[in-house]
Parts: sequence; structure tokens; C-alpha cells
Amino acid sequence: MYQSLVEMMMEPKGGRIASGTEYSWCRAVPGGTGIAVLAILTSKVPETSGLQDALNKLQSYHPILRSRLHTNPSKNTFSFVTSPTTFIQVKSFNLSSTSKILESSERFSIAPLQLILEHELNENAWCNLKCTSTTDMLYASSYALPDAKWVVALRLHVAACDRTTAVSLLKELLLVLVSDDDQEQEGRGEVNLAIEALIPKGKAKKALWARGRDMLTYSVNSLKSTNLKFIDAKSPRSSQVVRLQLNKDDTERILLTCKSRGIKLCGMLAAAGLIAAHNSDNQRKYAVATLTDCRSILEPPLSNHRFGFYHSAIMNTHLIKRGEKLGDLAKKIYTAFANSKHCNRHFSDMADLNFLMCKAIENPSLTPASSLRSSFMSVFEDSVFDSSNEMQQQVGLEDYMGCASVHGIGPSIALFDTIRDGRLDCVCVYPSPLHSREQMQELVEKMKSVLVQNVG
Ligand SMILES: *[C@@H]1O[C@H](CO)[C@@H](O)[C@H](O)[C@H]1NC(C)=O
Repeated sequence: MYQSLVEMMMEPKGGRIASGTEYSWCRAVPGGTGIAVLAILTSKVPETSGLQDALNKLQSYHPILRSRLHTNPSKNTFSFVTSPTTFIQVKSFNLSSTSKILESSERFSIAPLQLILEHELNENAWCNLKCTSTTDMLYASSYALPDAKWVVALRLHVAACDRTTAVSLLKELLLVLVSDDDQEQEGRGEVNLAIEALIPKGKAKKALWARGRDMLTYSVNSLKSTNLKFIDAKSPRSSQVVRLQLNKDDTERILLTCKSRGIKLCGMLAAAGLIAAHNSDNQRKYAVATLTDCRSILEPPLSNHRFGFYHSAIMNTHLIKRGEKLGDLAKKIYTAFANSKHCNRHFSDMADLNFLMCKAIENPSLTPASSLRSSFMSVFEDSVFDSSNEMQQQVGLEDYMGCASVHGIGPSIALFDTIRDGRLDCVCVYPSPLHSREQMQELVEKMKSVLVQNVG
């Protein structure tokens, strides 16, 4: 009797309860939003390159990577239970099993790397909310391709992996693959604290009336804002990807324009997206979510090598009319975001947005056509910069793509941009068949020409 009482009061041993933002992700992922995938194309055999050993090391460095997610439906809680030992097993797909997976997806002459990325975005290990269950936070697979190429895919629950984590994960993976020494890194021991526990004192505070007013504004705005045309709102959804790539010249001109206007690339990308989407003589309102990494402004600040989810979203709506000028609109969008951030909305509105997200997940019919779209588009405040290096060559890295799924609740198009060797490389994720591949390819093509034709 006493024993069971104690058990009831305690979470699984060694566990930390998922709270706030993490809790919202635990609610969102079963529906299909928040499956983070990093897919790497390589010309080195994963087995002989020591992939398994490398992943063991990463798992030992980062407690969250060797944690399992415990779902307790009776108490409506989730917790991360950290194993003292590593347990990851790379799942290998040979040539014939890989080609079966690729065949089952529709053909649009899409590169295998992208097809495998899409396949992985829809492998949902976390789909069971109804019963007590335990799932890993990190899964690894290798897929053999023709011509002695492989794709290595890491799949993570977003509560454990925001975009900064994914970027660091790739860097650390390359590092452990090329070096033998087993250096101690920060982060051994326990799962890092949740973002809510690290918000500077007073910054998340809001008067009760202000909370009510803002919640009302958010829900009214989301109902009034314009959605991209829904192609099929009934069928089950999965995540698909369109890749937007620009050459070095165009990228440079865009970055220079941003600089001269005193804005970040996210404003330019959002403006191009809205101009490409707006197809009406009337003014329309569109919602844009900008994700900002809070690591550097937390108390204490966290390094990029602290794994977990430390981003916060700022929601803004923008009135768009026909004939908007890219540069002016970009400035307007970026300024609205910067002002919101200046007012600490990334901290003060965090709980409200999490609450609304969970409400929409519970009641999809609250959203137009049960589409579960929370905004037209999402962008990241800061772009990722990367350049080819010695390490990448040593492990035979030829290309990679990283993003997270959005076919549960989320935007119609989520942008994950990287500037690689001076070129813009942007993974655009969308829910299918709510939106079709043709529709999204057309939108992204339009964005591209809006960007290229209206700068410098
Ligand atoms: C490839 O893998 C499948 C499934 O694991 C197996 O049945 C098949 O024999 C393998 N093929 C080769 C050529 O090794």
C-alpha cells in the first residue's frame, strides 16, 4: 500500500517531467508535428566509418539523447527517463529494402536524399498517446543507395532537438567520426532544464487582463488570417518537402540587401512567401511565426551544445495588398518581429501560445476545415551558416538536409534555411495532401523569382 503510494507520487526513476514547451511538443508529435530529421548523403560505408561507435559517444555525452519518453495517460504527463548506459542501434537498410521504400513514394524525379528525408519525417515512433508507453528520443538509420552512396538519417523528438541542437548534432557527429579521442563534454549527467525554468526573472510575467486580451487577439487573428488554398483537407496527412536553392550571386545580393536595410534574412524570406502566396485584389491578413533561439538570453545562458528545445515563437499578422515591394514588406515584417521581441513577447506569450496549440490539437474543428494550420508560414530568426570543411570530406559527406515535420498542427509552409558555402539552401516543409506538391513547388518557384528579381 505504502509502496504503491510512493510510486504514484514519484515519476519513473531518474526521470524529469516534460514541462511547458516540451509538454506541448509531447502533445503535438503524436499528431505528426515535431519529428526532427537530419539526413546525410555520404560516400563512406556507415558500418566501416564507425557510425555506431560515434552515436554511442554522442549518446553518452548528451543525457537527453539516451533518455526515453514515458507517457502516462492517467496523469497526463510525459517524462524523460535517462538511461545510465547507451543503447542506440543503427538500423541498416540494404539496397533492395531502400529501393522498396523509395518506390512506394510518388515519383517527381526527386533526389533519393530528399525521398528518404520525407520517409523519415513520417516515421512516427511517438504516435501512441492512449496507453502507457516508452519510446526513444533518438533513432538512427542508414540506407544504401546505388553507386556506393548511403544516407544516414537521425530522427529525434523535437522536445529533445530544436534546430540549434540539430546543427550541433551534425558538427559533433563529424567530430567523433574523425577523431578517436573520447573527450569529456559538458552535459553529462542529467537532462538539461526546460526553457521555462531559465527565463530571466520577471520576463514571463503578464497581468491577468493582458493575458486574456492577448489570447483573444491570437485566436481572433488566427481565425481571420488567410490560408493557402487547401487541396485535400479530409485525407490523412504526412509531411513533404520542397527544396529552395539559390546560387552564390543571388544569395549574396539578397544578403547585401538585408544588410543595407538593417534586417535579417527571415524578413526577406517571409516577405517573398507572402508576395508569392497573395493572389487577390483585396487586402488579406497572413500570420507568420518567427522562431527565435533563446539560449543566449536565458539565465544562465546556454551554449549551442546544450541539447533540447530552447526556441520560442513570435506570431505576427501582416496585411498584404497586390503589388507589395519586396524590400519594403521585408522591412515591415522584420520590424514587427523585432518590436515584439523588444517587448519580450517571446517570453511573455510562450505559455499562451503553448496553451492555444494544445487546445487546437484537442479540437481541430476550431481551425478552418480542421486544417490545424496555426499560421501561413514559419521562419527562423537566424539563418544557419555552414561551409564545407576537412571533416565533411573525411567522412565522405556530399549533401545533407535537416528539418522537422508539420503535418499535425503547424504552418502551411515551414522554412529551414541554411547558407551553405554562400548559397541559400532552404528546406520547405508542408502538410500533404492538405497542400499538393505541385502547389508547393509552384509557390516556392514564385518565391525564388520574387527574391531574385527584386534585390540589388
Ligand atoms: C536485404 O534486406 C532484406 C530485409 O532485411 C533481406 O530479406 C534481404 O535478403 C537483404 N538482401 C540482400 C541482398 O542482402
